[in-house]
Amino acid sequence: MTNPTAGDSVLILDFGSQVTQLIARRVREAGVYSEIVPFARGDEAFARLAPRAVILSGSPASVTDAGAPQIPPGVLATDVPILGICYGEQALCHQTGGAVGPSGHREFGRAFIDIVDDSALFAGVWAKGERHQVWMSHGDRIDAIPPGFRAVAVSEGAPFAAIADDVRRRYGVQFHPEVVHTPDGARLLANFVTRVAGIAPGWSMAGFRAAKIGEIREQVGAGKVICGLSGGVDSAVAAVLIHEAIGDQLTCVFVDHGLLRAGEAEQVVGLFREHYRIPLVHVDASETFLAGLAGVTDPEKKRKFIGGAFIDVFEAEAKKIGGAAFLAQGTLYPDVIESVSFTGGPSVTIKSHHNVGGLPARMNMALVEPLRELFKDEVRRLGVELGLPPAFVGRHPFPGPGLAIRIPGEVTREACDTLRRADSIYLEEIRAAGLYDAIWQAFAVLLPVRTVGVMGDGRTYDKVCALRAVTSVDGMTADIYPFDAAFLSRCATRIVNEVPGINRVVYDYTSKPPGTIEWE
Ligand code: XMP
Repeated sequence: MTNPTAGDSVLILDFGSQVTQLIARRVREAGVYSEIVPFARGDEAFARLAPRAVILSGSPASVTDAGAPQIPPGVLATDVPILGICYGEQALCHQTGGAVGPSGHREFGRAFIDIVDDSALFAGVWAKGERHQVWMSHGDRIDAIPPGFRAVAVSEGAPFAAIADDVRRRYGVQFHPEVVHTPDGARLLANFVTRVAGIAPGWSMAGFRAAKIGEIREQVGAGKVICGLSGGVDSAVAAVLIHEAIGDQLTCVFVDHGLLRAGEAEQVVGLFREHYRIPLVHVDASETFLAGLAGVTDPEKKRKFIGGAFIDVFEAEAKKIGGAAFLAQGTLYPDVIESVSFTGGPSVTIKSHHNVGGLPARMNMALVEPLRELFKDEVRRLGVELGLPPAFVGRHPFPGPGLAIRIPGEVTREACDTLRRADSIYLEEIRAAGLYDAIWQAFAVLLPVRTVGVMGDGRTYDKVCALRAVTSVDGMTADIYPFDAAFLSRCATRIVNEVPGINRVVYDYTSKPPGTIEWE
């Protein structure tokens, strides 16, 4: 894989920290392209990318452990600027003549550092004599720094909270500048890549778009590409970008499984056919899916059936249009980053996720994945750059199995219709309150539980609707959205009044973990 801006990039060596991805984000926000690579592949990646700077991530490991992750020798031998973060700083010390040992004063969470000397790393951000808030998370501490370095910041638990060798342009910070709890962290990282390493900010969505179009043309040649649209943002952005590159060599297949939200199929078809004039096969397969789901109540069985049926329908449609050599997918960067076992052993786990699982192997097609270097918010920016309506690119994520996993128990057409109505009222209220963009995902769930109520003078015995709304950065963890009582009460009243079959509404107060975002 070539990348759009090789030669002006930053290589991030991952030692297994939970927040390594944030380093890449901060660097990109500074307008510089960055790639995360497991530390064990550092030398190979260095040769391929020819980066202008290297950042070493944190790690749950200790440099004093046998078999602890090491900075690759080739990287240590270069003269490009290096910034070690937390474990990265400790490894830099440990491997170049300093000393690291267990700390009697572990620091986790918010801490304050005193800037004891100026340095190019801090230039324009922090000055000698100032005190600043940072985020720490370390057990070990540096006892001696390597020759050439000096301490430029100290904290209560870390006499070498930041170290600098301005001559060799090597730096270490014990705190985490990549997390938002280090308020000036993003500026420090930007300073490192643009001023210390001298990389001109050139990474932009416009540049990415132009470079990717060239790459897609080169990869595909005169071949045909098929793209499965899910109704989600990622596949839509991938399709529009590919269409810009190769025009009608691309055919999109939109499989409507009958488990979509209100108005969703119409929106996607309208956008692709009318707005972009992208060839689109719209398959209404709701009969097939709903018939296959009859009597199925186990969540995993539902998911497996839907995944399998999707592949069958997609494959049949692909055959009808004469097949294609390439399959386009909206795979994102978090799905392809290899997470590394921090012992550095061979047990490297590869999080390789395909949106339409199983398809490539079965259909023997090469993959076109133009978004594989992007994070979700970058895909949204690219979508806007490509002219997709902001309301479309800003939509909340929606799972492949759709409403089926929001209807615990058996999924019927009637249940889907009831849920769609409740869901659209809920979202309408969220939009009216101006809260849509503050929420990662909000949706209604239709429970297979009936409760007694009273409407007018009559007794009702209808289903319960649960409302869910969460905030999240990546869907891996989530907090509930704290609506005020008046808002929830308004939603409950409208749903019970306007949706036949629902007579009670509850709000889900469970964070993730221990809950998941979806109910199944
Ligand atoms: P959970 O429920 O695991 O969901 O907390 C995390 C995020 O992933 C979405 N999700 C899916 N997306 N296919 C998808 O494309 C799926 O099978 C699937 N299951 C969950 C979910 O909506 C949330 O954003």
